Amino acid sequence: MVKFIDEVDIKGKTLFIRVDFNVPLDQNRNITDDTRIRAVLPTINFCLEANAKVILASHLGRPNGNHMDEFSLAPVARRLAYRLHKKVILAPDCIGPEVDKIKKTMKKGDVLLLENLRYHAGEQKNDPDFARELMKGVDIYVDDAFAVAHRAHASVEAVTHFAPICVAGFLMRDEVLYFHRSMEDPARPLVALIGGAKISSKLGALLNLLKKVDKLIVGGAMANTFLKAMGLDVGKSLVDDSLLKTAKDLIKMALKKKVKFYLPVDVVVADRLDKRAETKITPVQEIPADWMIADIGPATVTLFGEALQNAKTIIWNGPMGAFEYDAFSRGTMAMVHKVAETYALTIVGGGDTDVALHKAGEFQKFSYVSTGGGAFLELMEGKKLPGIAALENWAKRNSNAH
Ligand code: 3PG
Ligand code: MG
Repeated sequence: MVKFIDEVDIKGKTLFIRVDFNVPLDQNRNITDDTRIRAVLPTINFCLEANAKVILASHLGRPNGNHMDEFSLAPVARRLAYRLHKKVILAPDCIGPEVDKIKKTMKKGDVLLLENLRYHAGEQKNDPDFARELMKGVDIYVDDAFAVAHRAHASVEAVTHFAPICVAGFLMRDEVLYFHRSMEDPARPLVALIGGAKISSKLGALLNLLKKVDKLIVGGAMANTFLKAMGLDVGKSLVDDSLLKTAKDLIKMALKKKVKFYLPVDVVVADRLDKRAETKITPVQEIPADWMIADIGPATVTLFGEALQNAKTIIWNGPMGAFEYDAFSRGTMAMVHKVAETYALTIVGGGDTDVALHKAGEFQKFSYVSTGGGAFLELMEGKKLPGIAALENWAKRNSNAH
């Protein structure tokens, strides 16, 4: 069991909150989506209300141990100040004498954002010395960085061996709770809707889902491999030929486990993946040899929609087509509306899928949208996340102490 932030006394304490401010930036380093910043405001405000000193730490991108200005958290500091209605001090680094000095001059209610953790190689190496430095002067470590919980990095794992108290924040709590409700203790029927381009990156998730769900619906380019495995000609569509046998086995497994398994019955095909491409709708049995699948078709939307009708829980990860092109976004958009219309508990994994919800204007209709991409996927694979394990282990070691 993890300990949560509202179970410990934080009044006036110095808190180090690991957050995931790895937000998307455009070429001018403007934040294009600040969901991950807004997602941790409840935890930050909770600490400020308790008059705590708040130190925030995050990575941004992959500078791989180098101090590179294009990976600076400066844009995040500005956006956070705007969202908090409060001054945010940006430290020049995340460890070192200058940072120690700033930490010492902090007053209660101050917010300090440390510079990119990945400016130091120790972060990704889970280096205990680096972690010890991070925890200097810290009373309580708070992990609210669900999106990076699948990485055993120093600010996620090693720090829990140096901080006096280690707890999870409110975002972490919500993420784990909703995931539990969808995969571990779901109201049934539980339906998974899985899409995205690469079947290889979601094999583990598909295997684990087959043990848990009542229905499995597969769309997106990964469905192509299944269609080809069934003996259909998919033309020039993206296919992972090395996984044809695996795809066949998955279909067999679904039958054996009595999981209802759905694939597209019609598709939008294009002569190339381009906004000026020629497109047409065709049954999966009639894909022209030199065309490629770019989206699910309207009959498939109807079919998938019907399969979702009696769902009590829906877990969704991955778009239904190449939805970054308007011409091929219709299937994904239609499925957003279909899922939004159900009476089910609806959980969506991060990454591209939440972009689709925003684009369709339906974000608010979903029960929960995860801030995690990779972390969410690893949970779907049935893996234990190092970030959560570290908090559990700390709680186990300290079960009598606090
Ligand atoms: C993410 O966006 O995937 C997380 O912030 C983790 O980042 P990473 O994939 O670079 O480790
Ligand atoms: Mg990632």
